[in-house]
Amino acid sequence: MNIPNDYRPLTGQRAIVTGANTGIGAAVAEALAHAGAKVVINYLSGLDQAETLARRIRGRDGDAIVFEADVSREDQVKAMFRTAVEHWGSVDILVNNAGLQQDAALVDMSLEQWNKVIEVNLTGQFLCAREAAREFLRRGRVPELSRSTGKIICMSSVHDVIPWAGHANYAASKGGVGMLMKTLAQELAVHKIRVNGISPGAIKTPINYEARDTQEEVEALLKLIPYRRIGEPEDVARAAVWLASDESDYVTGATLYVDGGMTLYPGFEGGG
Ligand code: BGC
Repeated sequence: MNIPNDYRPLTGQRAIVTGANTGIGAAVAEALAHAGAKVVINYLSGLDQAETLARRIRGRDGDAIVFEADVSREDQVKAMFRTAVEHWGSVDILVNNAGLQQDAALVDMSLEQWNKVIEVNLTGQFLCAREAAREFLRRGRVPELSRSTGKIICMSSVHDVIPWAGHANYAASKGGVGMLMKTLAQELAVHKIRVNGISPGAIKTPINYEARDTQEEVEALLKLIPYRRIGEPEDVARAAVWLASDESDYVTGATLYVDGGMTLYPGFEGGG
């Protein structure tokens, strides 16, 4: 990743990134480590990928732990935070990233598909944010490390504002993430805990690309992006580093759209 080696605004801080073995989560974990943070690489399946990433971080003098946990399970989320605190004393940054899609037309969508997506994408963010806030409050503010007591970053999607036919469960979960994020930001600001969101557009990740591999499909997607390029996970990772750092100390309750302008023109068809 193209970040200068001496830019390490997160030195000494400890981060948990959920769903960090692939895609946006992996890029975020790597960028936070590059910026000086120790990171917990959470995964549910894909231990090999998580370990490869941890090795790469350690190879650059970083510190990483891999931890298997289903973010929709309270006991597993608690165990993950306990492990981070046992290893490193506390947690300063949570990136609520784990998420999935299970697409179906409304009339075909099973209750199981609905529940699964809501449980992972929305309930998972609640459970992790709650544990993070509890830990931040237990530890209190450490001004030498950061101006805030803790930072929570909620990964949402452009589909927190753009409706998405055929994806009712996913769009509902991301709309929920947006309001969860703002409410937590309002509630926790008095404790100097900052909560922000990132809403990525079309990014080259497994969640996105598995479903879209023909040239025509890629062309159709590009027409929806005024900036005319599909995003890279690193585009999102750079935003996460900024939101986790004191550079953004006066920013809370905000959503950063990292989407090449997709939300500017819902249904935008061209411009040549
Ligand atoms: C989805 C992608 C989609 C993008 C833009 C994301 O939230 O996960 O599959 O391409 O939104 O529509």
